[in-house]
Amino acid sequence: MRKLSYMPMLLALLGFVSLSAQADVTTAEQAAKDYGLFAKRLNPQSTLSAEAGRAFFIKKVVVGSKDLSCAACHTDNPANPGKHNETGKPIKPMAPSVNTQRFSDLNKSAMNFSKHCRDLYGKDCSPQDKGDFITYLLTVKK
Ligand code: HEC
Repeated sequence: MRKLSYMPMLLALLGFVSLSAQADVTTAEQAAKDYGLFAKRLNPQSTLSAEAGRAFFIKKVVVGSKDLSCAACHTDNPANPGKHNETGKPIKPMAPSVNTQRFSDLNKSAMNFSKHCRDLYGKDCSPQDKGDFITYLLTVKK
């Protein structure tokens, strides 16, 4: 039930983010910052870590009979285009340095983010996980 308590705060935080912001790395940086602040409220000791974000990205989870991870669709290297593991549908690269559209619509990103976490973990990921993940993506260069 913990995840439900995140939602109002998350929406409140996202509300401060200008949706007209430039579609570039800046919005991803803003998203990481917001999740970081949010994580700090839940745990004052929290700091964001690109290494933790990388570990989160490649961590395998057993879903049904399959080993899945974020990397299963987004590939091991976020600078590369991904492919949906079941439909084969192409997915644009996750790294904002390569794909400037990434995190350009923060509401949409937040929804996708939560959806994929639920697909894999049966629950939303924590602001810490999300902040770490975006921090990691921001370290990935072309
Ligand atoms: C079954 C395939 C699949 C898996 C597994 C998956 N994703 Fe995705 N992801 C997609 C697709 C498809 C999209 C939407 C297309 C797009 O944004 O290019 C997407 C988009 C996203 C977005 C939106 C980015 C934006 O710019 O708005 C985020 C964030 C994301 N995924 C994070 C994750 C994380 C974190 C995990 C692991 C917990 C994960 N995904 C696992 C297929 C997947």
